[in-house]
Amino acid sequence: MLEFKNIIKVFKNQTVINNISFNVNKGEFVVLIGPSGCGKTTTLKMINKLIAPSSGNIYLEGKDIFKEDTIRLRRNMGYVIQQTGLLPHMTVGENIGLIPRLQKWSEDKIIERTTEMLKLVGMEPTQYVDRYPCELSGGQQQRIGVARAFATNPDIILMDEPFSALDPISRNQLQDELFNLQQEFKKTIVFVTHDMDEALKLADRICIMKDGDIIQFDTPEEILKNPANEFIEEFIGKNRIWQQPEFIKAKDIMITEPIKTTGSRTIVQAVEIMKSNKVDSLLIVDKENKLQGIVTLKDIRRNDKGSIKLDAIMETEVKTAMLDESLIDILNSMNELQIGYMPVVDDSLKLVGLITKSSLLSVLSNQYINQEVNA
Ligand SMILES: Nc1ncnc2c1ncn2[C@@H]1O[C@H](COP(=O)(O)OP(=O)(O)OP(=O)(O)O)[C@@H](O)[C@H]1O
Ligand SMILES: [Mg+2]
Repeated sequence: MLEFKNIIKVFKNQTVINNISFNVNKGEFVVLIGPSGCGKTTTLKMINKLIAPSSGNIYLEGKDIFKEDTIRLRRNMGYVIQQTGLLPHMTVGENIGLIPRLQKWSEDKIIERTTEMLKLVGMEPTQYVDRYPCELSGGQQQRIGVARAFATNPDIILMDEPFSALDPISRNQLQDELFNLQQEFKKTIVFVTHDMDEALKLADRICIMKDGDIIQFDTPEEILKNPANEFIEEFIGKNRIWQQPEFIKAKDIMITEPIKTTGSRTIVQAVEIMKSNKVDSLLIVDKENKLQGIVTLKDIRRNDKGSIKLDAIMETEVKTAMLDESLIDILNSMNELQIGYMPVVDDSLKLVGLITKSSLLSVLSNQYINQEVNA
């Protein structure tokens, strides 16, 4: 939907953007983040032509924006700047209705839309519509800024540190509201922040910049798991992944070579396999490595005939985890079902690993040790 191609920006003699290229997909929430002065605002302002690049092209829906009419382009973009940019001499209603009015909507439609937007950002219309920005708290002003940006139903919304001046509680609340708005209306949003928590919470993808370069542009999960270099590691904070357990997946914590056998083995053989591998359960798979069931020492003790095949005694109702299942869901299932292990299967139900209470513990405690060392 939006494409930056070899964009360079030089202010006087200083190059502030060094040839960056990236794409933003339709409906995607992209967060630009990086240290002060790295070029986030400059990048954002190029999207609505407030700043022209020194070279390179920017395409919106395949069209070069510098060949498009600026007014028409901006009509289709909401823009929220830091400190909201509300016009102080206009009421809340007039601020939200500003662009619709410029677009010559009918008064009725503007009132209807203003009311709708106020409700959307959680402010009672009758109570607030006639107030002036100075009669609102900082958080309420930010809400009006967001409402104004959404008012004309633009395809793209640009937001430059819109919540940076807020206390953590209002900020969290507004982040949640923005997230929900985006889920509902599927806007394409480019959002600037210098707060990694905010980025992780909101972004589909995060673009990390430094000195006018893009260092890594990826999903939050990928950035946490595979930071491109030391700068990114420092930036996100070492071991950040552990504060984000929803990003830890079965494949990150499973034992990759669980002890397994086929159902045609006998109890006597199973006991031998368990003994030599020092385990108290065996996963049973078919020839294609698809999980069939599990046999535990308990199951074996219930049967005294050593020649019985495992097929006949295995438990077939086994709760499994998919490779991408999150640590949180896995822990919840293990607690709920009171089980100490969970085989991990891929899309074709082939056995790829095993999570046990003790493997979980060792992963978590290793982490604890690492944190101590790094502290
Ligand atoms: N109009 C201008 N003239 C000259 N230099 C500028 C101008 N605007 C920005 N710069 C410089 O370009 C660089 C990038 O600025 P930009 O505002 O994009 O940074 P930023 O990443 O948004 O930083 P912050 O987090 O502090 O808002 C900075 O070094 C800044 O000094
Ligand atoms: Mg900035």
